[in-house]
Amino acid sequence: MTPLEFPKGFLWGTATAAHQVEGGNDNNDWWDWEQTPGHIKNGDKSTVACDWWNGERYRQDFDLAQSLNTNAHRLSIEWSRVEPREGVWSDAAFSFYRRVLAALRERGITPLVTLHHFTNPRWLAQKGAWEARAVVPLFERYATRVVQELGDLCDFWVTINEPTVYLYAGYVNGSWTPGKKNFSLAMRVGENMLRAHVAAYHAIHRVQPHARVGLANSITPLVPANPRLWLNRTLAAFQHRTYNHLLLLALQDGRLHFPMGNARIPEAMGAQDFIGVNYYFSRRIAIDLAQPAQLFARPLPPRPWGVSYDAELNEWFGKGEINPDAFVETLKWCARFGKPIFVTENGICDRDDDFRPRYLVQHLAAMHRAIGNGAPVRGYFYWSLIDNFEWAEGYALRFGLIRNDFATQTRTPKPSAHLYARIARENALAADVMEQ
Ligand code: FCB
Repeated sequence: MTPLEFPKGFLWGTATAAHQVEGGNDNNDWWDWEQTPGHIKNGDKSTVACDWWNGERYRQDFDLAQSLNTNAHRLSIEWSRVEPREGVWSDAAFSFYRRVLAALRERGITPLVTLHHFTNPRWLAQKGAWEARAVVPLFERYATRVVQELGDLCDFWVTINEPTVYLYAGYVNGSWTPGKKNFSLAMRVGENMLRAHVAAYHAIHRVQPHARVGLANSITPLVPANPRLWLNRTLAAFQHRTYNHLLLLALQDGRLHFPMGNARIPEAMGAQDFIGVNYYFSRRIAIDLAQPAQLFARPLPPRPWGVSYDAELNEWFGKGEINPDAFVETLKWCARFGKPIFVTENGICDRDDDFRPRYLVQHLAAMHRAIGNGAPVRGYFYWSLIDNFEWAEGYALRFGLIRNDFATQTRTPKPSAHLYARIARENALAADVMEQ
């Protein structure tokens, strides 16, 4: 076996998001959601998380990221900190993020900054957050301010993380704040997120002409459980397009597509400098006429992936299927936009690190295959650098390369961290790594 080498200058990164690692914030809608029993597994709360805010423990985590030979890190700015009340900006919060970004740069790690990663300031949530068109200028103003304050430390931006996960979990299955089940409202949220991205894209470029700006798209290929059934194929294709492709298509041709509406948004045309892809698994869906709220679809349990899943994997991948081939297809599909691609998230929850090395190597090999097929993938951000507050799953699901003992805040790199360090150092998947 010959080693699989990656292009020169490839970015080997890790990812985190503010609310999942910072702790010490009671001013956003997720904090409010966490207070109701039943919303978060085991009643967990984001109170301390990885203690980045009060304890400034990002420093030691970035030391570890540096020791893993990574040269990039994706993190997010918490809107509720920098604009704690509408139109009021916090110097203390901007100073904090300046220290964070400087700490990365001192370690030779390029920051990629996300402006919205699921959480909203409470004042915005009280106005209906993304349900109302009024969010668009508010987000544009916030993006402008962040780039004015931090633009000397970063020029690589994700406007919004996973709009379709946000609208699905918040407005279709209702498992996340605001806990609604209303498909047409979900589509409106999607449209507002697209419009806000476009406004922020242009605003960021006005402040920082050389900026690179994109969206982090959740792409979960949806395939029919029974491809011989016309109805199943049609349903899967409709859902696949709605969930995975609609926003990217709108950014290409400046039009909304059914079922999100049919508005023309000319300023959306080409409003992304790269394609951000968050890929974890694919999903098989069957027809279920008893589930109108789920668009008549029912996810099927996964087929085994060479190994059988343990309880933790079943929790999260329970409705998905580990599928590196679908990752190749996803990256090849994204290549059609003719823009650089960054894998802004990919990873697995696996407390004991039994499956992670295998998952990592298989997905990196898949990414290599896509690059060989012409997909311009320029970087990869493993989710996550460290075990953290995993939304409705609380601290139960562990995605980190680094273990966090939340009681003592002790960090321990897992075996897969050492594996990733070697891959990043060699900029390649060595033959023995693949054989193992
Ligand atoms: C993605 C989210 C990220 C994390 C991973 C596991 O959907 O963007 O915050 O929760 O899943």
